[in-house]
Amino acid sequence: MKKFDVKELMPGMILAEDVFVSENKIPLFEKGDILSSKDIARLTFYSVNEVSVETQPVQSTPTPPPDLPNLHKETRSKRIQASKEFREFKQDFENCTEKYAHTLNDILAKNKEFELDELMAPIYQLMSKNKNTNSVFDMLHNLRQYDDATYAHCINVALISNILAQWLRYDKDEIELATQAGLFHDIGKLMIPDSIIKKKTKLTAEEYDEIKKHPQIGYDCIKDFPLSNHVKNAVLMHHERCDGTGYPSKLTGPQMDKFAKLIAIADVYDAMTSARYYRGPLCPFIAIATFEEDGFQKYDSEMILAFLQNIVNTYISDTVRLNTGEVGEIIFINRNNLSKPTIKIGNQYIDLSKTHNVYIEEIL
Ligand SMILES: [Fe+2]
Ligand SMILES: [Fe+2]
Repeated sequence: MKKFDVKELMPGMILAEDVFVSENKIPLFEKGDILSSKDIARLTFYSVNEVSVETQPVQSTPTPPPDLPNLHKETRSKRIQASKEFREFKQDFENCTEKYAHTLNDILAKNKEFELDELMAPIYQLMSKNKNTNSVFDMLHNLRQYDDATYAHCINVALISNILAQWLRYDKDEIELATQAGLFHDIGKLMIPDSIIKKKTKLTAEEYDEIKKHPQIGYDCIKDFPLSNHVKNAVLMHHERCDGTGYPSKLTGPQMDKFAKLIAIADVYDAMTSARYYRGPLCPFIAIATFEEDGFQKYDSEMILAFLQNIVNTYISDTVRLNTGEVGEIIFINRNNLSKPTIKIGNQYIDLSKTHNVYIEEIL
């Protein structure tokens, strides 16, 4: 038996102990369960940091049957990564990360004054080149392999929050607040020693407690900054959950700031779809399924619906591979079951919402 950070888990690993979430008596997973990529996303969703797995060799991930049509060898991911737009986005994103590494640290460490518009400008530049919100999502999904640092995560969350605010039809000022809240939300992590944040080996219980202080630390850092109270609240409350299971104050939905609820969704979506050693970007349908199964008590249901519906709509008529290995085309979205659309395979139509244990594993 060995403890593994959730980030290092691979599909096929076998759990050596039950996994519980907060005070819940029923385990999320049981000893002996074989982890799939869907399960690993679910652990991230529940903020589980590490689990015990059996030390016996990891089973290889299921590979698609060899008789797949050659036509689909090029995945959507590979096509995007090969595009000029993606290379440009990646370059701009890296410049953006580097810039924030300096400016945010200067603001925190040297108490340097900042001009908010100037600070936000690189984010809006990244957005403006990609007018279409969906293409920003595609780019982000594919950028995953490159950077896992706090700055990169904050930029991701700023972009996702900006898009979500647009989808929720917020006005211009509110869209700006959502973007700022995304950029600042984890600023408290920059004050926690690198020896903890970047530690490769198992964290102690005390070290986890230290990391969990980042919303309060971040809030204390920025409370006198010339920022909207909504942004400050988002920093303080982004790990609270509508059902009262979050931290630091176990607030419930009505007690949470609207912008904290929005950031909470963008934050966990980014964590679920971010880079893992064993794979490229996580299939968005797996993240969507996790939100649908477990998300409606934890997050603002109206925000979640808008978020998931908009993401799913991007993929109508895309070719997908199911966990059974079959390849088909998404032809109809089921409004009550967004992660399980109807798929056309050859001359057959399969309604995934009516089939048990069959789900979309990859967008081709
Ligand atoms: Fe956080
Ligand atoms: Fe975060």
